[in-house]
Amino acid sequence: MTPPQKKRSKILIIDFGSQYTQLIARKIRESKVYCEIYAFNSDIEKIKNFEPDGIILSGGPSSVYDKGAPIISKDIFQLGVPFLGICYGMQIMAHLLGGKVMPAKNREYGHSKLEIINRSKILAGCGKSSLVWMSHGDLIVKIPDGFVINAQTETCDTASFENPGKKIYGVQFHPEVAHTQCGTKILNNFLFDVVKVKGDWELEDFISGKIREIKELAGGSKAICALSGGVDSTVTAVIAAKALSGRLKCIFIDNGLLREDEAKSVMKYYEENLNLNVKSVDASKLFLKELKGVADPERKRKIIGKLFIKVFEKEAKKIKDAHFLVQGTLYPDVIESVKVFGASSVIKSHHNVGGLPKKLNLKLIEPLRELFKDEVRIIGKSLRVPEEIIKRQPFPGPGLAIRIIGEVDKRRLEILRRADKIVTEEIKKAGLYEKIWQSFPVLIPVKTVGVMGDKRSYESLIAIRAVTSSDGMTADFVKLDYDILRICSSRIISEIKGINRVVYDVTSKPPSTIEWE
Ligand code: XMP
Repeated sequence: MTPPQKKRSKILIIDFGSQYTQLIARKIRESKVYCEIYAFNSDIEKIKNFEPDGIILSGGPSSVYDKGAPIISKDIFQLGVPFLGICYGMQIMAHLLGGKVMPAKNREYGHSKLEIINRSKILAGCGKSSLVWMSHGDLIVKIPDGFVINAQTETCDTASFENPGKKIYGVQFHPEVAHTQCGTKILNNFLFDVVKVKGDWELEDFISGKIREIKELAGGSKAICALSGGVDSTVTAVIAAKALSGRLKCIFIDNGLLREDEAKSVMKYYEENLNLNVKSVDASKLFLKELKGVADPERKRKIIGKLFIKVFEKEAKKIKDAHFLVQGTLYPDVIESVKVFGASSVIKSHHNVGGLPKKLNLKLIEPLRELFKDEVRIIGKSLRVPEEIIKRQPFPGPGLAIRIIGEVDKRRLEILRRADKIVTEEIKKAGLYEKIWQSFPVLIPVKTVGVMGDKRSYESLIAIRAVTSSDGMTADFVKLDYDILRICSSRIISEIKGINRVVYDVTSKPPSTIEWE
């Protein structure tokens, strides 16, 4: 019999649509406290069932008086647990509890100097004045009864307030962003001095708990797992294999759109380092055949996604008595997204091994469902997943096909593979590979004129893209050193036939996306 699980401390974050909500969650987990994010319109019963020890109300882009602004029921404050409101979350508190919020004359955005005017548990250890990060257009002009103001900035009289008797705290600035000097201290004050949680979220316990859970769930059945070579599916498979050993059957599909030698090297890691039971399926001819003549990015994505499922289904059916499908779904994929500005349009139909067939009638096992990517990397390390896999930059499911503008064929794939190898080598040499989110070349089969030796050339061009990002949702282009660009450019042109020009992409996301298609 498994011993009863002790109750773990839990914080609930209510999301009002801030771009920083996931950052709050990651910061809290870094302090070894488990937390989850619920959308602002979640049912109060769902919130109660979560049994939070404390609740954080996130920021958000709205004004509390906007038509359709995200609002929660005032009843939430009856739950009797401590609250911390951040930015819009603080304004919601003021609005619901009898205070008043008004538009400010000027929007306050960026660094501000916070002056503490009242001693408070939440600001303990911050020093009398410190820099904080502000991003708001409204101000609290009247605080609710029972509250006191703790701190102010030059333009914001209510930069922090509290009702210590009710354990309700609010800060107008963002403690979760690195620009707020004592932000981590403030969050930890809330966690450990106000809520008084234990720092009991240990990834090691998490792994052993998951292994136990999978064992119980699967009993003697077999399970199937699609491996992509990336960190999520690999860590997922390693955890599942520990629970199921020989009963986990993995499938690796080579769609012919991978980087140079990728299929071979990944299989080597799976079999030699990780001892996984993997069947490698070479479907490259099939993918290339279906992609022939297709230039439209969305059509390419759809073809690749559908074909992947078809090939996977065919292989999965060969595995008799399998009842489970193991998937590397991560927490950001399952957080209900808050759409404050109405429905968002589909920019790209993403494909990854997460969206696998429903037809197979397999029950899902998703061991990483509660984790962020950085936590998966930590777990991967403790499970001895090779660094080459853990530290890999994200690679899209449709592979190089969405980095070749227009039609995909063998020759273009070959050109892009060689360029990719050069860019990766140079970025690694410069010590940047792990510091940036993604760096890769894109093949643009538009011809331009050049001169090589004494001869006129008329060839395609390669664009180099390198971005920093924390989650792929937004990204900045990397200000790469000219020397690195110069070396990449001269190597690409001298080593690859068919390219006579290299350009660097200097757009961020938004307005561009990371991938070109
Ligand atoms: P975009 O191009 O949408 O990319 O700015 C954001 C991040 O997602 C990756 N990406 C994908 N990943 N399947 C994936 O698994 C896909 O279809 C896909 N499309 C883009 C992209 O590499 C970047 O990290």
